[in-house]
Amino acid sequence: MNNSDVIIVGSGVAALQLARKLSRDLNVIILTKSFMNHGNSVLAQGGIAAAWKDRDHPIFHFIDTMEAGRKMNHSTATFQLTQEAPQTILDLMKSGCEFDLDADGNLALGIEGAHSQHRIVHGGGDQTGKIVMDCLSKSLPPNVKVLEYQFVCKILTSENGCCFGVESRSGDGEMNRFLAPHIILSTGGCGNLYSHTSNADTATGDGITLAYYAGAEVADMEFIQFHPTLAYINQECKGLISEAVRGEGSALVDELEKPIMEGVHPFKDLAPRHIVAQTIFHHRQKGHEIYLNIRGIENFSGKFPSITKMCEWNRIDLTQGMIPVTPGCHFSMGGVKTDSLGRTTLKGLYAIGEVACTGVHGANRLASNSLLEGLVFGRRLAEHLNSQSGLPRPPFKEIMKKTSPSAVCLPPVEELQKRMMTNVGIARKKSALEKHLQWLESYNLIRCNHLDFTLLTNEQIKVLFMMKTAWLITKSALEREESRGGHYREDFPEELPLWQSKQIIQKKTYEMR
Ligand code: SIN
Repeated sequence: MNNSDVIIVGSGVAALQLARKLSRDLNVIILTKSFMNHGNSVLAQGGIAAAWKDRDHPIFHFIDTMEAGRKMNHSTATFQLTQEAPQTILDLMKSGCEFDLDADGNLALGIEGAHSQHRIVHGGGDQTGKIVMDCLSKSLPPNVKVLEYQFVCKILTSENGCCFGVESRSGDGEMNRFLAPHIILSTGGCGNLYSHTSNADTATGDGITLAYYAGAEVADMEFIQFHPTLAYINQECKGLISEAVRGEGSALVDELEKPIMEGVHPFKDLAPRHIVAQTIFHHRQKGHEIYLNIRGIENFSGKFPSITKMCEWNRIDLTQGMIPVTPGCHFSMGGVKTDSLGRTTLKGLYAIGEVACTGVHGANRLASNSLLEGLVFGRRLAEHLNSQSGLPRPPFKEIMKKTSPSAVCLPPVEELQKRMMTNVGIARKKSALEKHLQWLESYNLIRCNHLDFTLLTNEQIKVLFMMKTAWLITKSALEREESRGGHYREDFPEELPLWQSKQIIQKKTYEMR
């Protein structure tokens, strides 16, 4: 048994920002299921959006974020995000983070889809995530202990409704308990639920399922963002081609080199992601191949060194100037419902970063707002917890639930991923969603809230969590009978005003309704 003041589950940008901003008087444990620096944050290419008052204004960043989110965004949280962005960049620079500069020594600002201004701060060309993560890792203070290969599989809850610890399993399946009055989920998203994804293999929806099983509310699960351009070779996605490449002037074309975004949206190739992804999807359905024409970009390898390396590794000949692409799952706008301090609906449980649903992304996230979200809400939660730390801990008496040991029967992960891509992917419809839900529910385990994890392997728990998250997405996608941002229904293709203020919230106690 290990006691501490704060347990952080996950080790991405939000986790590390929180950890380094917490008071040095607090004992902090980070539990991460893989090794540090393995995850989505370190892969982030594009950058961090921030509006500088001399060239731009946070209010324009706010307006662009709301517009991309199809006005489903929580406006206060979105205001905080965009307002606090420039200070967040300055703070990182003070900690030694070196962003790219222009010839005059000012921050070099890129542009990405649905931004009205150049405001994307980047580092190492296309290696912003790595640069930020290196900086945050280096600035972790000694009161923060990192434990790798600890897969958290349960949140402990007390009779008085508080979360007070977690159970985790090490790589060899050994069970450990960690107790603390503040449990923070920072586990990232769920891109690996889909056969096409830009995400690291660790993004399997753990935090969403953990919070849901513990009794917290989850929201907006139907809103899944598909990034338009993943390099696509031999029917497989090989890695992200940043939207910054389109920001530098590349264009999406078909096999006859005909531009596909002409006349679709006034921003053409820099239209909001859901519009670009849907356009590529429809062309591919008609049998076309889609390419990114990069011939107009000077010094491509200098501007995008990690994309160049990835293309070379996958034998994409960049001298031809055409990169084959397809859309893939990139980001989950929904997640564990929180306020703008990261508090969930359960006492003692918090969520930050992609696993959280603060509402800042609405129905579709604006490019380069994800590292920003982790940094801003990681710091905000640290400030909140620092102000709480003197409070006495309430007594915790654990709820002992009857567990149901059952024979484990789960599908191969690849089958789940293919079915999610086909039925709950870029284009959805009622008949396919219903069939898919039935298939998920045919595995009785996913409707079972009291499982005895000691009988399962780590791999089985991971697949079970993926199935449960898939079930939450499918249920929400079925319920929202309109199209908005990352949720496109072929049978309800319009955005309907009556749905704008309706948030789909799911909670374990609603399950049997
Ligand atoms: C990209 O570089 O295109 C991805 C950045 C993001 O998702 O915000």
